[in-house]
Amino acid sequence: MKKSSPLSLLLPLFLLHWLSQGKLALGLGTTDGSEEWGYVEVRPKAHMFWWLYHSPQRVHSPSGPWPTVLWLQGGPGASGVGIGNFQEIGPLDSNLKPRNSTWLQKADLLFVDNPVGTGFSFVEDESLVVKTDEEAANDLTALLKALSNKVQKLQTSPLFLVAESYGGKYAVTLGLSLLKAIQNGELKLRLGGIALGDTWISPEDFVFSWGPLLKDVSRLDDNGLKKSNRLISSFDLIINTINIDYRLMDSLFFKSGLSNKLRSNNSLAEAIKQHIQNGQYKNATNLWILLESVISSYSNFVDFYNFMLDSGGDSSSMTSMGLSDGISMKKYSSYLSSKDSSDGDFNSFMNGVIKKKLRIIPKNVSWGGQSDIVFTGLAGDFMKPRINEVDELLSKGVNVTVYNGQLDLICATKGTEAWLQKLKWDGLKKFTNLDRTPLFCNSGPKDTRGFRKSYKNLHFYWILGAGHFVPVDQPCVSLQMIGEITQSPIRTSYSRKLKGYKYKL
Ligand SMILES: *[C@@H]1O[C@H](CO)[C@@H](O)[C@H](O)[C@H]1NC(C)=O
Ligand SMILES: *[C@@H]1O[C@H](CO)[C@@H](O)[C@H](O)[C@H]1NC(C)=O
Ligand SMILES: *[C@@H]1O[C@H](CO)[C@@H](O)[C@H](O)[C@H]1NC(C)=O
Ligand SMILES: *[C@@H]1O[C@H](CO)[C@@H](O)[C@H](O)[C@H]1NC(C)=O
Ligand SMILES: *[C@@H]1O[C@H](CO)[C@@H](O)[C@H](O)[C@H]1NC(C)=O
Repeated sequence: MKKSSPLSLLLPLFLLHWLSQGKLALGLGTTDGSEEWGYVEVRPKAHMFWWLYHSPQRVHSPSGPWPTVLWLQGGPGASGVGIGNFQEIGPLDSNLKPRNSTWLQKADLLFVDNPVGTGFSFVEDESLVVKTDEEAANDLTALLKALSNKVQKLQTSPLFLVAESYGGKYAVTLGLSLLKAIQNGELKLRLGGIALGDTWISPEDFVFSWGPLLKDVSRLDDNGLKKSNRLISSFDLIINTINIDYRLMDSLFFKSGLSNKLRSNNSLAEAIKQHIQNGQYKNATNLWILLESVISSYSNFVDFYNFMLDSGGDSSSMTSMGLSDGISMKKYSSYLSSKDSSDGDFNSFMNGVIKKKLRIIPKNVSWGGQSDIVFTGLAGDFMKPRINEVDELLSKGVNVTVYNGQLDLICATKGTEAWLQKLKWDGLKKFTNLDRTPLFCNSGPKDTRGFRKSYKNLHFYWILGAGHFVPVDQPCVSLQMIGEITQSPIRTSYSRKLKGYKYKL
């Protein structure tokens, strides 16, 4: 065994301060240097937390550089550092056991608690949460400017923005913001590509997909479909069959500002579309909450993250989950905790053993403590589509990969295919007419796990048997896919070296 120099023993234990663009940042890492984390003050009093894992598999290959994946969680307000890392793709699960399907086998992994207020990130004043996807992208750009100065490796490792759910809207706005900063010489980085996994790129197309999809798979019948589309009967249904506070419902309904005419005639999805077209995004967000509740009850509480499952919802949870602003967050993590065998809840895990390991989280900051204000802050942008941004990235030659789980409802493949057809990109027709290639994973040709097609810089993966959380439901094919997306020099899956990954201090 090589003797470590006293310096290398000491260094990681120091709190490292570094200055970047005049902003003070704070960082720390494991004693072996394989993990680093810290805060960057992206705006005065707005602190973003990041956590970078260096892969032990890193190879220098003539076939291509070693990639870095920046994972962008959704919500808004869901933590990449917590959920993405410990429940989806990081080297350890929430029992601190190695995850054999970790994406660290193919790339370095950068998790961020984005936007500020999410996870361990925090704002000192609640008015500092972001109001738009662009503001989130600006903060992330500030983070990457600071980070690429500190971690030189990032400057040569192509960066892939990989998003889930709402994260897709951050990814495309961030992609454009990074290209601009790189072009202006403000940022030394290579944008490798963008991957959109079950992302909320066009809310209108998703709300229109729900009813027909559920009807096709017997979770709604014609009658239920019709009724759930009618505003007035939806309203009555909710009041009559679900034990909720009438006044709450009433205020929500009138907050959406619908005229009597609209109430008695148009479908909810149609009403959402009209509000989006008129730029009344907050009203559209309120109606979206209403539509989710209605679909839930007519389908006897289908799980929006996997339509083959029940959400486990009931009339009492409806009030607390379906109709408050923090909603999406709670449903989001309850689905994942049902997948996760850890004892105790995930909140205490993050605020207990993980907070202790990280050492630099301020005492009064608790993981997830500000997630509700993150969601509320973005309520005016939540329903805004980002199809134009995808178009812009495609026209600039950036590789854009779209992947979707077959069983997802909230960002259903049906809705994703619908917004894709709205692209103005000149390769779309050729892309659409191409045949797909079947995908297998450690299995024979009679065990199809998905399909893929690529034309120029647009790529699409259909992942069979997966709901909203693709890497959780189909880890093998997801790992293979991320290897292809990032063109990782490591070709094999499930390496021995990483299976033995240990919790490190
Ligand atoms: C990876 O883990 C899963 C679930 O624990 C297991 O079923 C699978 O066999 C493992 N794969 C390998 C190659 O170890
Ligand atoms: C934590 O306390 C510090 C110092 O008292 C304060 O500046 C900061 O705003 C607090 N942070 C939160 C998230 O409450
Ligand atoms: C949108 O909602 C606001 C209240 O939040 C309301 O005043 C306004 O009339 C609504 N607009 C429409 C067109 O429904
Ligand atoms: C209902 O909508 C249809 C089609 O948009 C329209 O022709 C009709 O006048 C509307 N009815 C009422 C009562 O508004
Ligand atoms: C896009 O991805 C393909 C592989 O799928 C690769 O050959 C190409 O170089 C990439 N283009 C850019 C601009 O990164």
